[in-house]
Amino acid sequence: MRNSRIDVRPISGAGGAEIFGVDVAQDLDDGTVGEIRDALNEHCVVFFRDQEIDVAQHKRFARKFGEIFIHPNFATVMEDPEVVMVRREPGDLSYVGEDWHTDTTMCAEPPMGAILYGIDVPPYGGDTMFANQYLAYDALSPTMKKLLDGLRAVHSDIGIAGPQASRNKLRSTKNRDDEGWRETRNTHPIVRTNPETGRKCLFVNASYTIGIEGMTAAEGKALLDFLLEHGHRPEFTFRFRWQKGSIAFWDNRSTKHIALGDTGPFRRLMRRIQIGGAGVPA
Ligand code: SIN
Repeated sequence: MRNSRIDVRPISGAGGAEIFGVDVAQDLDDGTVGEIRDALNEHCVVFFRDQEIDVAQHKRFARKFGEIFIHPNFATVMEDPEVVMVRREPGDLSYVGEDWHTDTTMCAEPPMGAILYGIDVPPYGGDTMFANQYLAYDALSPTMKKLLDGLRAVHSDIGIAGPQASRNKLRSTKNRDDEGWRETRNTHPIVRTNPETGRKCLFVNASYTIGIEGMTAAEGKALLDFLLEHGHRPEFTFRFRWQKGSIAFWDNRSTKHIALGDTGPFRRLMRRIQIGGAGVPA
């Protein structure tokens, strides 16, 4: 019987489900992990409430789903290269996740997912929104699907990290920005297939996608502008309101997300671990 160990409750028609009956701090058995993975594949993002996990427990939970992904632009600036502390202080003009994005897609093998844990959460504001990229793809016309078939987009971290990005002075969570930093650039299919579900989805995002292979800059921009806006039409989105002890575990192969900037006078502190091993998008 499915979901015999966990209680999965969808939060919207577009995706996302809260999971009850799991203490993430425990060394979970394979059956429970399998059911969480099934829920992730079905709902694209899963949420847990009222969890108390330290760094070691957070890492152990992440490793149940794959190897820990080391973020090239945070590894040398964070205390622990496997962990990104996502911190926002009142007055920050820039912060991690401020644009609609899928994580770290400039890498040849972007992370499969991320597990974000709420440590210091504002009483209101600072929600995270997600957009289901299966739905975004499904809603395209057959003609647009045909055009996109076989097209590859260029992904780069040129606007996000390194000295030229000039973001660090605006924000509390610093990226690598030393003179030795080098751009990471790769191409990925605009439409990818999630190998676990076999479903196709759009795979472009505002933070990292900078052009389309084989097109002029103007052509690529026009098509990308459309795809980026289309990808987060309201009917593809769902929204998570954080509390201390909440966890969001998202599938980067089927979603985009954005952290909302309405934290005003409040601090917001989260701990993030990314999961790798997803291979080259195809
Ligand atoms: C992220 O994009 O990884 C951070 C999301 C958030 O802080 O809500």
